[in-house]
Amino acid sequence: MRQFRNVGAMALGVLTLLGAGGTAHAATVPIDTQVDRLLARMTLAEKVGQMTQLSEGGVVTGPGGTKGLEANIKAGNVGSVLNAVGAERIRKLQEIAVKQSRLKIPMLFGLDVIHGYKTIFPIPLAAACSWDMAAIERSCRVAATEAASDGCNWTFAPMVDIARDPRWGRIAEGAGEDVYLGQQVAQAQVRGFQGPDLKAPTSVVACVKHFAAYGAAQGGRDYNTVDLSRRTMLETYLPPYRAAFAAGARTAMSSFNEYDGVPATGNKWLLDDVLKQKWGFRGFVVSDWESVSEMIPHGAVADRKEAALLAANAGLQMEMQSGCYLQNLAGLVKAGKVSQAQVDDAVRRILRVKYEIGLFADPYRACDLARRGRTIMNKANLDAARDVSRRSIVLLKNDKDVLPLAAGKTVALVGPLADDRENMLGTWHCQADGKQCKSLADGLKERNIKVVTAKGCDIRGTDKSGFDAAVKAAKQADVVVAVLGEAHDMSGEASSRTNLNLPGVQRDLLMALKAAGKPIVLVAFNGRPLTLDWEQENLNAIVEAWHLGTQAGPAVADVLYGDYNPAGKLVATFPRTVGQIPLFYDHMNTGRPYNKDDHYTSQYMDAPNEPLYPFGYGLSYTKFQYSPLKLSTTALKPGGKLTVEVTIKNVGARDGEEVAQLYIRDLVGSVNRPVKQLKGFCKISIKKGEARHIKFQLTPRDLAFYRADLSYGAEAGQFKVWVGPSSATGSEGAFRLTSNVAVPD
Ligand code: BGC
Repeated sequence: MRQFRNVGAMALGVLTLLGAGGTAHAATVPIDTQVDRLLARMTLAEKVGQMTQLSEGGVVTGPGGTKGLEANIKAGNVGSVLNAVGAERIRKLQEIAVKQSRLKIPMLFGLDVIHGYKTIFPIPLAAACSWDMAAIERSCRVAATEAASDGCNWTFAPMVDIARDPRWGRIAEGAGEDVYLGQQVAQAQVRGFQGPDLKAPTSVVACVKHFAAYGAAQGGRDYNTVDLSRRTMLETYLPPYRAAFAAGARTAMSSFNEYDGVPATGNKWLLDDVLKQKWGFRGFVVSDWESVSEMIPHGAVADRKEAALLAANAGLQMEMQSGCYLQNLAGLVKAGKVSQAQVDDAVRRILRVKYEIGLFADPYRACDLARRGRTIMNKANLDAARDVSRRSIVLLKNDKDVLPLAAGKTVALVGPLADDRENMLGTWHCQADGKQCKSLADGLKERNIKVVTAKGCDIRGTDKSGFDAAVKAAKQADVVVAVLGEAHDMSGEASSRTNLNLPGVQRDLLMALKAAGKPIVLVAFNGRPLTLDWEQENLNAIVEAWHLGTQAGPAVADVLYGDYNPAGKLVATFPRTVGQIPLFYDHMNTGRPYNKDDHYTSQYMDAPNEPLYPFGYGLSYTKFQYSPLKLSTTALKPGGKLTVEVTIKNVGARDGEEVAQLYIRDLVGSVNRPVKQLKGFCKISIKKGEARHIKFQLTPRDLAFYRADLSYGAEAGQFKVWVGPSSATGSEGAFRLTSNVAVPD
């Protein structure tokens, strides 16, 4: 896993040469040779053009805009366009590049296809809660096939930023707080987007973002400063990016934040030392939206020329949108400030990706109207969305088995999201039409459930005039299903929050509903962990449904009525209160770990240390019992293996699925080690009354970390190991690593 695969190094491609008469003939020539031949024909200006990405005006994903896109393409000034949408428009722009520009180099068309193109899947944070890599891969595959039938050949995904601060709205876009899980999810996403064959017309190039550590923004405020130790960077934040490259991702996006005092977009340590030299990355890095020119307000450079200089010499190959390269790079090369070799390396990387995906052979590979007609929102895609949505749902509370509901009961369906389609989509919903989504009300209609509806209140705002009607509806029903949460634009980019309660007067609505005396089930649609302490205390059941996309309503209905037994587990800790943040499970122990009998220990005076719901937590309609662990040895030797076995019994009344999680703790290290670290998991289905035996295998590699001198390896000593249903509980064992083991990093 740690060794980066030199993607495409030896791949052969088809070179299409246009003869004088316009007829094409193809020859099989290694891609690197094709790239070199083309490079030799390019002027400096054309090279800078390849390093430039400009935005189409239609979709705006940042400040500013582009003028004269088509003229720039014709002049050979554009290597890639972002935010152009639709096969017809993209074909038109591509035609300008391949028919009217001097060298006829086709362009990459990039778009934020994050969790679906038109068929929208659960937000990535939700999909990660499935702990189901096949499901995650499938969701990205569907997104890719839809996007790649409508002109797009490059997605700005996956976002693999570790996120440990739910105030940060972009936590919605990633796989949560854990480094091990984050690596698995990143690889599944890359496999899904790029498919088994990059040349296939259904594949899109993946772009791993945001490199690096964007998720560590101070205070959870988007775009904010990041200040991390080198150790934390290496151990916690970098591995998911590396895993994504190891899975074959061809491109990366630099992040907005600074790292170690230098903006990532101009950070040589990140882009050159780590990515290129250490990891051997052969693809290219694109900046984030105007993040080259944003190095001016960062205070890293004085003007656009210096911005281009810093970025180019750091190893940023393509600039998104701000045009500093277009304006200054040729001059910087002529002045000897940026080497010709640096520019050639950048262009080689960009052209290589274009050859690898077969773009020279067929520049219109993603513009196939017939395929689009067959693909977009077809039944298989909608079914896949429903399936992945159900797997993403996390059951947080289910007192006295109030769920699943009996079909004959009357439901008071209340709350601003009960019959809302648009907000099911979540952040980055690409080309989706909210009207094509299914709300929970739609989902219940499909089941002919007797429903009394009342909105109660808006998502935001202070108006309580709808409360009375909601309480009246509750009184007429057997059970209240309160559908509350965040609007689609309350998480995602530039959507940080300091208060993580249900917004507006939604909690007040729940308080009012309690007066009706009926059991209350909260269905929460949201894009981040919320503080649900009051809800946990006062409601009968809580279903964390996230923003699930197109098929949200039917998927939640499947769970509410027990056609699907929920099995999702949280991938980000839910705090009780914002004051506990940052709060994540793999923290250090401190010299004064919390002890309720000792005041002078690490604690709050006004809140417990524990989260409301820990990482890895999630309930089922059935119950699982874990046996004591069986370890193959208590002394693990270098080169040896340790097998950890456990039997899980389904002791409840329904078939179900369980995500068994293996955690370790290294008791003493040359640098302090976290109290728990996830090192494996296994999702299995177990029929009621049955038991399944599972085995995990650990080797010294799994125990490795960046030691006191930053070398990578495992240290001899005592370890604890747990296998259980969450990071908070599990069957425990112990073993010893007999000697130190250096592990290649
Ligand atoms: C976001 C990126 C996105 C880019 C292009 C930026 O504002 O940070 O995640 O890919 O815009 O839309």
